[in-house]
Amino acid sequence: MAEELIVSLAADKEDRYQTLIPQIKSLVSGETDVIANLSNIAAALHQTFHFLWVGFYLVRNKELVLGPFQGPIACTRIGFGKGVCGASWKEKKVILVPNVEEFPGHIACSTDSKSEIVLPAIKGGDVALVLDVDSEKLNDFDVIDQLHLEKVIKIIEDLL
Ligand code: SME
Repeated sequence: MAEELIVSLAADKEDRYQTLIPQIKSLVSGETDVIANLSNIAAALHQTFHFLWVGFYLVRNKELVLGPFQGPIACTRIGFGKGVCGASWKEKKVILVPNVEEFPGHIACSTDSKSEIVLPAIKGGDVALVLDVDSEKLNDFDVIDQLHLEKVIKIIEDLL
């Protein structure tokens, strides 16, 4: 595992993701504990992009339960189909929300959150967890974030 995360200083987020993704692969290689790996992945994303909130909600029975994250304290449980995270779980798909106020049922853990992207990780055909990233800026996520965060999800799915 790398001792220190090298954060690209490039203004370009594509470059930042390009530098980050191989380091995430290296960071999780050799560690089998999922919570340890999710913790470092949340930290690496936060260190690189300074997102308002980045973390995981884990499927536990009929709810999502808060997992490793970086950012302000957050709601601990989210129901199936509720909020952006629950919708991503229910629909088994990535949900990109340019303006959280326009997403029906959005759960405002922090009033500072203005836009959000949620990606599900699948194990054995079922959603095992979701990655949730929040920004204090409107319309802060696009196809570049989606593409690279999907690569992070693929790394996670290989660990599950
Ligand atoms: N906004 C999310 C809730 C989780 S927090 O943003 C950390 C949602 O609507 O599901």
